[in-house]
Amino acid sequence: MATLYAVGVGPGDPELLTRKAERVLRQADVVLAPASNPGEASVALETIREFLDEGRQEIIIHQFPMTSDRSRLLPAWQEAAALIAEKVLAGRDVAFVTIGDPLLYSTFIYLLRIFRESYPQMAVEIIPGISSINTAAAVACVPLAEADERIAIIPATAGLEKVIEALASYDTVVLLKVKPLFGEILEVLRQMGRQGSTVFVERVGSSRQKVLTGLAEMAAHSPDYLSLMIIKRAEVHT
Ligand SMILES: C[S@@+](CC[C@H](N)C(=O)[O-])C[C@H]1O[C@@H](n2cnc3c(N)ncnc32)[C@H](O)[C@@H]1O
Repeated sequence: MATLYAVGVGPGDPELLTRKAERVLRQADVVLAPASNPGEASVALETIREFLDEGRQEIIIHQFPMTSDRSRLLPAWQEAAALIAEKVLAGRDVAFVTIGDPLLYSTFIYLLRIFRESYPQMAVEIIPGISSINTAAAVACVPLAEADERIAIIPATAGLEKVIEALASYDTVVLLKVKPLFGEILEVLRQMGRQGSTVFVERVGSSRQKVLTGLAEMAAHSPDYLSLMIIKRAEVHT
């Protein structure tokens, strides 16, 4: 039975793809990769290109606008879902690739909802991926949690109040999507005395990977969209 595979490709390093993901990608008839802007490379597709056979497989880059405006996003989700469903229901295996893990802040989650409602007969399998969070913790050598510690994952786009609330309540806070509020977050961290316990990681798993540990160094940097912070309550030594 033809299947839609949601494949987590990890953070950008082809060596951080699971063996299952590699097998599914090599076998798929169609590979669909998301991109944010016209002409922009898809990070997920670049990560897996070496596993694809462009002569045999159909490779599609589908644009999803980089916006939180649902009235612009919904048509893009519906269009992608219809395109995928058409191919799967015609008997072709489709791999939808996503950076990190498909069920962690991924476009795939919105598509999954549409498939469940509009194409309930379609087979869907999810192949988990190594998230940017696990990879960032590994390269910075920062334990995410131990013993009874509690950890929170917050997209900084949820707002500064939520970030402050999490910092006050959890032993480890991972902030995703830090770019839009970067300056404000650094100010909060300074005020909360987290100078020695914050790590900033950008483009982890790629040749452009950057790991910063000092707030001054971070303040002098202009972050990329693919960047995150791990903030511990206690000092981290990397
Ligand atoms: C829409 S979320 C996708 C998360 C992804 N599904 C995962 O499992 O890692 C995008 C956010 O994840 C983080 N991110 C994804 N890839 C990254 C990378 N290679 N390096 C650093 N942060 C990354 C950034 O915070 C970025 O704003």
